[in-house]
Amino acid sequence: MDDIRNIVILTGAGISAESGLRTFRASDGLWEDHPVEEVATPEGFRRDPGLVQRFYDARRADVQAAVPNAAHLALGELDMRWKGELLIVTQNIDDLHERGGARRVLHMHGEALSAWCTSCDTRRRWTGTLRDNPPCPACGMAALRPDIVWFGEMPYRMGEIFQAIGRADLFVSIGTSGAVYPAAGFVEEARRTGAHTLELNLEPSLGSRLFDEARLGPASELVPAFVAELLQK
Ligand code: APR
Repeated sequence: MDDIRNIVILTGAGISAESGLRTFRASDGLWEDHPVEEVATPEGFRRDPGLVQRFYDARRADVQAAVPNAAHLALGELDMRWKGELLIVTQNIDDLHERGGARRVLHMHGEALSAWCTSCDTRRRWTGTLRDNPPCPACGMAALRPDIVWFGEMPYRMGEIFQAIGRADLFVSIGTSGAVYPAAGFVEEARRTGAHTLELNLEPSLGSRLFDEARLGPASELVPAFVAELLQK
């Protein structure tokens, strides 16, 4: 990994597992005991908005109770010290990257600590609950929903992500199963544009064979070692 200037890092639920936030596919397709179709689709929200609001109220509380682990802190240090381009594209809805010191973070699947008004389209930091349909602070309508990209909805800022991958010399995937597109396809784009590709994961992901290099183990060990290797160059 020589002459690296521009880096794109994709993270998934595995980087937050050691902070106590459960991953998606560890519990046979259930997310906190709910089928994702029930709580992570527009249809599920239309069918039972109360269930979905309560589900994300619980996720919002879990996120605020969790603390960044050594992997988040290492990426925070990398962000503070890396002179080239760096973009952390996360599929996670927690704010542990930010609380670990990272600034150049892009939440492609939205954020648990954000509420989105379906009436006036504003988004706002939200640490409380939505189950009682509070009024939107901007327009006063009771039309707030979790600011989460559900299955069937378009992930955020895809153009920006592909531009960053197009400039990257290094693409690193951390703690993701490679089960969900478009994130699972980013490694192919990185290879196409000539980046070195590295996977850091507890077990081989579905796309492992697409990576130039794969290191297996817990993120709390692999990521600090990877960052130290990069920064000593
Ligand atoms: N360290 C590193 N990797 C880990 C750890 C750990 N401590 N614990 C688990 N992993 C790995 C697992 O081996 C798995 O490959 O993290 C990955 C987690 O995979 P998923 O549960 O599928 O989570 P993720 O890849 O983020 O899911 C992608 O799917 O459900 C949707 O929108 C949701 O953003 C989510 C997307």
